[in-house]
Amino acid sequence: MQTLVVYSSRTGNTEKLARALAEALPDSELLPVAQAPANPSHDWVLVGYWAFRGGPDEAAGVYLRGLSGQKVALFGTLAAWPDSEHAAHCREAAERLLIEPERGNTVLGTFLCQGRLHTEPRHPLTPERRARLVEAAKHPNEADFQAARAFFTELRERCFPQT
Ligand SMILES: Cc1cc2nc3c(=O)[nH]c(=O)nc-3n(C[C@H](O)[C@H](O)[C@H](O)COP(=O)(O)O)c2cc1C
Repeated sequence: MQTLVVYSSRTGNTEKLARALAEALPDSELLPVAQAPANPSHDWVLVGYWAFRGGPDEAAGVYLRGLSGQKVALFGTLAAWPDSEHAAHCREAAERLLIEPERGNTVLGTFLCQGRLHTEPRHPLTPERRARLVEAAKHPNEADFQAARAFFTELRERCFPQT
């Protein structure tokens, strides 16, 4: 049972998560999106993105749009709260790229966690936004890696029970 972990990462957050997953999942290959095959022959592909303007970043988006006939699970890092409407919007935007137009991909699930914003905010910070960015600056952390490993291990067992 072979796993391909592909990631797009501008400042390293998503790459850290990708590395933690590739280390935890047996028989897995880790590749940055620029080096990932357009149509991998692995049993499933995990694609990681960083949130950009309410969706997956450009490089991850291009990769997702190019996949066909694949079993895909997604992971991502973002500055927003992972249980927010904004995060749901990011998740749905990425998943949509895999299934519209229909080309035989199956979306198995998505894991999201916060990731430190490395740039200075352009707008004045409300207290709520400040609190969110202060928290984001602590992620991804060991608890995120553990949660991601548990998420994908469970997903793997559920989707590929024979292996
Ligand atoms: C230009 C830019 C746009 C961003 N847009 C969003 C966004 O729409 N929603 C969000 O929650 N975070 C957004 N972020 C925060 C990043 O997604 C977050 O910090 C992420 O962890 C960066 O991952 P990386 O280190 O792998 O590049 C944005 C960051 C930048 C620099």
